[in-house]
Amino acid sequence: MGLTIALNRGRILNECLPLLVAAGIRPAEDLEGSRKLIFDTVEGEHRLVVMRGSDVPTYVEHGGADVGIVGKDTLMEYAGSGFYERLDLGIGRCRLMTAAPVGLGLGSGPLRVATKFVRTSRSYFESRGRQVRIIPLSGAMEIAPLMNLADCIVDIVDSGNTLKANGLEALDTIAHISSRVIVNRAAMKTRFDEVQHFIERLRAQIK
Ligand code: PRP
Repeated sequence: MGLTIALNRGRILNECLPLLVAAGIRPAEDLEGSRKLIFDTVEGEHRLVVMRGSDVPTYVEHGGADVGIVGKDTLMEYAGSGFYERLDLGIGRCRLMTAAPVGLGLGSGPLRVATKFVRTSRSYFESRGRQVRIIPLSGAMEIAPLMNLADCIVDIVDSGNTLKANGLEALDTIAHISSRVIVNRAAMKTRFDEVQHFIERLRAQIK
């Protein structure tokens, strides 16, 4: 039996599919047009499981998947540790940043921070000795300052268009993000050859 590979649906999937295909791991059917979540590969060796990014580390930690491809932002936010981070694919590049309404900056007083990156934001501001109240949101962070829910946000910035469209400007970079390959700890031992082969095939495709 091959490996079960957990993939972060959305932007990361779009960028990592060509890499997987070039590495000889081809889904047996079109992933995008399907409501299915589990896909065989043409070679029949591995299977691909498509899920929300925040579930990828959970599946890999608990052995529901042997390996996973997920953004570093998700890994930074994840509290568990039952996996190894083995490869930086160099795709899905973006930055995790603070942002505030244009011209307002972050000031120096207590801050209300709207974000879905609760743990990462808390430790970032703590490490700077900054007093903050984190306001957890699962989306639409960009409008939180407009609605006076928060003074600033912490979010992923790629082109910057989302911030711009909502009257915000990016301020500090908390982390440079890219997609990583993670491996279940037990699989790293019991299926070492298969895992290593998978990683080397992907590594060979990285520019
Ligand atoms: C991210 C982020 C912003 C957007 C930034 O969301 O939350 O909304 O991308 O990209 P930009 O700088 O190019 O405008 P994403 O589309 O990844 O979806 P998500 O909200 O589900 O995370």
